[in-house]
Amino acid sequence: MEFCLACWERFCYAAGNPRLNMQRAFAFEEDARFRKFFPRLFMIGISVSITTSSVAAATDAATLRARALEVLAPLPTKMPGAENDTLVLMRLGRKLYFDKRLSANDTISCNTCHETGSRATYRGQSLGAFGKPTERNSPTVLNAGFQFAQFWDGRAADLESQAREPMLNPDEMGMPAEAVLLKRLRASWNYRYRFAQSFPDTAEPFTIANVTRAIAAYERTLVTHDRFDDFLKGSNYSLSRAERKGLELFLDRGCAQCHNGPGLGGNSFQKIGLKNPYANTTDLGRAKITGNEADRFKFKVSPLRNVALTQPYFHDGQAGTLMEAIRQMAYLQLDKELTRDEAGSIEAFFHSLSDQRRALRPHSGLPAQQ
Ligand code: HEC
Ligand code: HEC
Repeated sequence: MEFCLACWERFCYAAGNPRLNMQRAFAFEEDARFRKFFPRLFMIGISVSITTSSVAAATDAATLRARALEVLAPLPTKMPGAENDTLVLMRLGRKLYFDKRLSANDTISCNTCHETGSRATYRGQSLGAFGKPTERNSPTVLNAGFQFAQFWDGRAADLESQAREPMLNPDEMGMPAEAVLLKRLRASWNYRYRFAQSFPDTAEPFTIANVTRAIAAYERTLVTHDRFDDFLKGSNYSLSRAERKGLELFLDRGCAQCHNGPGLGGNSFQKIGLKNPYANTTDLGRAKITGNEADRFKFKVSPLRNVALTQPYFHDGQAGTLMEAIRQMAYLQLDKELTRDEAGSIEAFFHSLSDQRRALRPHSGLPAQQ
């Protein structure tokens, strides 16, 4: 009788049939070899497929990045003009920006309508110092200094000339005159010290030009940082697959015809309702400034950085959700109907444009001012 070398099972001896036992033993060995081999095969299969799919995903991402970089760009880390801003000036500007004394009855600051530190960077049609709603939706001031002009109709060329308006606007901060504001500021020892420090070479630092200069210096620090920039700079996994699909649709559907450059907008005026008329025709937009018939309903193309944090949408705040704004845009500007899935993908992409720090911060808790 031969030994069964495979397993030394007692049963093999007991069966008394050596041939059968040997066959069983070989079969068992074969089986064992296969059992050892199969997991290896399986692992090799998995790693090959992971490598091929990640290589494919990486090439997909690289092609998409190259396509995106033709019309879009990462936000620069500094805003134009920031090179001349000193630290004391930025700090003075921040103090002014948050100071309610800039409004006639000490009730609101710039930050009431344009929160800079939390999720709520837009406050819709906000209430002015005397409770009157503003005519238009308040835009975010985050990254505002990257735009080619300020306000929905671009009536101010830069942050400095923009900042003068809200303080004296009776519907906003309602200050009766520049002199009243300056007198108020001069009365504070803190401001006397800060203005003297920020403008050391002038005999009279308390001027409106210096107030707006300081506020603009603070606003130029409001550069945000998001995952889309990381993607554009070469990090494939900064955007999820859904977000990349959204970016692709954004490019395919022609949104980047107007929403382009580093801000994804903020660099041209376009008519709202280019292909299909916009429902609200009360606001003439740029035509109010230029008096030109061709500028009727033209507004500055909104920059889309932080767009997921800044509802409601459009100059009149009529679109309450991002999804609605996306679908309306496709119809109004491009005469295209987006399916819910397509609009959802674009919305997913828009979430990658949120500042990483602010997106996590809760709303400040101020009462909503709609
Ligand atoms: C009562 C609310 C309110 C207050 C207070 C207010 N703003 Fe505004 N702000 C608005 C509205 C509304 C607009 C848009 C007006 C328009 O385009 O016609 C705007 C526009 C702007 C813009 C242009 C942004 C862009 O993208 O075009 C900047 C910058 C800005 N405000 C900064 C300030 C500063 C600085 C202060 C304080 C001195 C301030 N705002 C106070 C409501 C307010
Ligand atoms: C022909 C130019 C043009 C095209 C194409 C275009 N937009 Fe716009 N978009 C604008 C203008 C102009 C505004 C500001 C309109 C207003 O409120 O008056 C705007 C505003 C928006 C807003 C609201 C932003 C805010 O802060 O209120 C979103 C979101 C938006 N567009 C997304 C898209 C998407 C998505 C597409 C592609 C499906 C697209 N846009 C295509 C010109 C365009």
